[in-house]
Amino acid sequence: MHALKWSSAPAASSGSDNKDTLSLTGASPSLTTDRLILRRWQPADCIPFARLNRDLRVMEHFPNRLTRPQSNLFIERVEAHFEQHGFGLWATELRGSRTFIGFIGLSVPHFEAPFMPCVEIGWRLSADHWGRGLATEGARAVVCYAFEFLKLPALVSFTVPANTRSRRVMEKLGMTHDPADDFDHPKLIEGHPLRRHVLYRLAPHHALY
Ligand SMILES: CC(C)(COP(=O)(O)OP(=O)(O)OC[C@H]1O[C@@H](n2cnc3c(N)ncnc32)[C@H](O)[C@@H]1OP(=O)(O)O)[C@@H](O)C(=O)NCCC(=O)NCCS
Repeated sequence: MHALKWSSAPAASSGSDNKDTLSLTGASPSLTTDRLILRRWQPADCIPFARLNRDLRVMEHFPNRLTRPQSNLFIERVEAHFEQHGFGLWATELRGSRTFIGFIGLSVPHFEAPFMPCVEIGWRLSADHWGRGLATEGARAVVCYAFEFLKLPALVSFTVPANTRSRRVMEKLGMTHDPADDFDHPKLIEGHPLRRHVLYRLAPHHALY
C-alpha cells in the first residue's frame, strides 16, 4: 500500500519520490503518480478527447462513438459533477510531456439498479497509451483518494463481459466479481448486445494500492 503525501503545492511540481502524491488545490485536488497527473479539465483537452471518443478501438464496448459536441458535453457534465460532489473523472495527462491521454476517476451513476446508490470508478485512455499499466497506476491513486480522503465505504465498477482489459484493471485493484451481481443496463433496450453488464465491487480493506 502506498503511503500518502499531502501537499498544497501545484500537482505538476510535487511528488519527487516514487510515492503517489495527492496535491490539494482547493476543493478539487489533483492526484499525481509516478507517471501521471490527474487534474480538472482544460479547454485544450477538447480536441484530443474528441479524437479518443471517435476511435473505434476505444469505443468498442460502448453503444456509440461520440461526436465532437457530445464529447464537449461529456466534459461539461464531468466538470458539473466535480462542482456537485467535489470529485469526478479526472482529466489524465502524462507527467513528463503533459500530454492529455484520457480520464480516470469517480462518478455517481444515475440509473436504477440493485447496487445504487454507489460511486463508480472508471477510465478511458487513448489507445496509443494502452498496455503500460497507466490505467491501473492512475486508478490506484483514485482508490487511495476515495478511501483515505473521501472515506467512501465502497466502490463499484461495471462493464460488458467482453471488456477484458477493463476487467483486468478492476482485478488488479483488488475488485471482486460475483456473478449474482450481473445486471442488464437499463439505459440499453432489451436485446441490445451490450446490455448485459458485470459488476465489480471494492471495499476499503480489499483495496490494492
Ligand atoms: C481499459 C483501459 C483503460 C486499460 O488501460 P491500460 O492502461 O491499457 O490498462 P493497464 O495497462 O493498467 O492494464 C490492462 C491489463 O489488461 C491486460 N490486457 C490487455 N489486453 C487484453 C486482452 N485483450 N484480454 C485480456 N487482458 C488484456 C493487460 O495485459 C493488463 O493486465 P496485466 O497488467 O495483468 O498484464 C483501456 O483499454 C481503455 O481505455 N479502453 C477503452 C475504454 C474502456 O473500455 N473503458 C472502460 C469502460 S468500463
